[in-house]
Amino acid sequence: MSASIAMNAEDTVLSAQGLVMRFGGITATNNVTLNLKRGARHALIGPNGAGKTTLINLLTGVLQPTEGKIILDGVDITTLAPHKRVGRGMVRTFQINQLFDTLTPLETLTMVVSQRHGLGGQWWRALGSSKKITERCEQLLQQFHLTAVMDQQTRVLAYGKRRLLEIAIALACEPRVLLLDEPVAGVPAGEREELLQTVAALPPDVSILLIEHDMDLVFSFSKFMTVLVNGTVLTEGEPQQIANDSRVKTVYLGHGDEINDDLNGMGADFNTVPPQGEAGGLTRG
Ligand SMILES: Nc1ncnc2c1ncn2[C@@H]1O[C@H](COP(=O)(O)OP(=O)(O)OP(=O)(O)O)[C@@H](O)[C@H]1O
Ligand SMILES: [Mg+2]
Repeated sequence: MSASIAMNAEDTVLSAQGLVMRFGGITATNNVTLNLKRGARHALIGPNGAGKTTLINLLTGVLQPTEGKIILDGVDITTLAPHKRVGRGMVRTFQINQLFDTLTPLETLTMVVSQRHGLGGQWWRALGSSKKITERCEQLLQQFHLTAVMDQQTRVLAYGKRRLLEIAIALACEPRVLLLDEPVAGVPAGEREELLQTVAALPPDVSILLIEHDMDLVFSFSKFMTVLVNGTVLTEGEPQQIANDSRVKTVYLGHGDEINDDLNGMGADFNTVPPQGEAGGLTRG
């Protein structure tokens, strides 16, 4: 192995290699290879049904691939149980918000942070009694703009706050790899800016794979992009390169030439263009 290949391997924190996932007759993941670099700001984009969530489910162990391998920090984790992957530093958020509705943000975070500190089943004892845990919770509440609502039941929180809490929970697990599945989905326009800024301010040493339809977020966040179509990697590259790729425009917009200027500005929201052509649009399911 040459020195440069060895260095590349060290650079890669998470590697999906030739992943295939079949559901009966549907190939949701078709020989996907994707490498997440250390400290990455990597976006995974593609139309509805492209297989983005399926890929996250494979990476996190919710699904077992039909074929292929998953390597985390040089260790083959293809058959490792989901909770053990979390233990190894790979954490996700969900496309559809999943939270404990009757707990408050403070209680929820105390529970997760306590778990990290081995207090697991007795998390309520940490409420106010463990300085280390209290401090970490306060820090997370602040970082995720949740301090003002920390004592309200999660079910009454605005959706943007719920999404922030979900990312806070993920970060409370002290991940090295964070997989974000559409963090902005369903968040009203007025609450989005706070979320975008918070995602942008996530710790640089956490390697992040972001799935998102919101192109404002994708292009402001990512340094590298992978485009998935029909379960297959269409192309990969830096944002500017992807924005100028006529195949990508065709997939998203049916016909690309008319919107060159928009995409060259790299702030285009592909969602705002009505679905056209066979590839389908970006209206969320
Ligand atoms: N458990 C399952 N059983 C059968 N088919 C599935 C299952 N999960 C996903 N699929 C199919 O796999 C394909 C990819 O779905 P997936 O949810 O991964 O797409 P996606 O890119 O996340 O889409 P979206 O942008 O709408 O979230 C779709 O055709 C979907 O219907
Ligand atoms: Mg999805």
